[in-house]
Amino acid sequence: MTDVSARAQTIRPFVVMDIVARAKELEAQGRDIVRLEIGDPDFPTPEVITRAAEAAMQEGSTHYTQSLGLPDLRCALRDWYRDHYGVEVDPENVVVTQGTSPAMLLLFGALLDPGDEVIMPDPCYPAYPNYVAFLGGVPKLVPVRASEGFRYRPEEVRAAIGPRTKAVMINSPSNPTGAVLGEADLAALAAIAEETGVYIASDEIYHGLDFCGPDRTILSYTDRAFVLNGFSKAYAMTGWRLGYMIAPPDFVRPAEKIQQNFFLAANAFVQQAGVVALTQAQDDVARMRELYDERRRFLVPALEEAGLTIECPPCGAFYVFADAGHWSPDSLELSYRLLEEAGVASAPGVDFGAGGEGFLRFSYATDLARLAEGAARLKSWAQANV
Ligand SMILES: Cc1ncc(COP(=O)(O)O)c(C=O)c1O
Repeated sequence: MTDVSARAQTIRPFVVMDIVARAKELEAQGRDIVRLEIGDPDFPTPEVITRAAEAAMQEGSTHYTQSLGLPDLRCALRDWYRDHYGVEVDPENVVVTQGTSPAMLLLFGALLDPGDEVIMPDPCYPAYPNYVAFLGGVPKLVPVRASEGFRYRPEEVRAAIGPRTKAVMINSPSNPTGAVLGEADLAALAAIAEETGVYIASDEIYHGLDFCGPDRTILSYTDRAFVLNGFSKAYAMTGWRLGYMIAPPDFVRPAEKIQQNFFLAANAFVQQAGVVALTQAQDDVARMRELYDERRRFLVPALEEAGLTIECPPCGAFYVFADAGHWSPDSLELSYRLLEEAGVASAPGVDFGAGGEGFLRFSYATDLARLAEGAARLKSWAQANV
């Protein structure tokens, strides 16, 4: 018997946060833990951005802004989409949020009625099914496989679409797999959206961290799409809480009403800093991307050398999703064992869905020396235990 709402009980814990807590406990006891579990850039936010926020605060940008966001930022995003992707975005369709996470609430809140379905890849970022279920919707998981580059099979997406399906979720570059969808994948999904009337909900938070080609937005392929994006990853601004949604026009006013009531608006001075991030921090973004790429090129063979299998090496984000099924079929237990016994923190693949079972996710938002130390510890552990 519990007084806790059924809705709150639909939320599944994000297990990696428990791993973080245990890693911190061990560190407090004096253990040295190589922290490869968390998706938070190790770089400081570029100085040009922090200075802009300081100046904005000093100049009195400390009040509520419009719920949809500062016009300057919405226009800067229009310019960014035009210059970076060659796509015309009407600033009227941009809703500025306190990170990509609240944008998910606006998106699914504006789109879903109870019983409506959202197709999403298995494995995927765990917040997606939780948001959908919390709002009374039904997450419909469609498998993506390492052997196929963790991409949807279009025919499986088509087969999963029923009368209650409202959207197909994509996330490229992907957390947890680091996989990137190519032109053909995006075009196929766009065609499915146009034929069936579902929307593509595209989480583009890892744009700016694509190592194999240019960033591709779903908006280049179809207007039946929502884009979620934010400044956390490429700009190293996780703690600032700044993101946005680009929505089809009919959904802007509904999203605005949700924002007005639930969040009011994103932080004023952070939005001003966001304009500077877009217009003056691209060199910093490129520098960080190069360093992540260097780490990626180091870590993939180092994990293979330790004994893990990487059938689909990552092309984006800052994760390696490695198959450890031959070490243990139980990724949660394995992740805890590696933490306790090898002093290496990782995220268990099952945290991202049943399709992730047997895998471990390693984040390379950590410097090369620590990555080398982590890989060496994994190798010794495997030699002794597998
Ligand atoms: C795929 C994905 N989407 C969204 C988020 C949340 O980002 P934000 O900090 O913008 O809320 C994360 C954070 O790890 C993520 O991995």
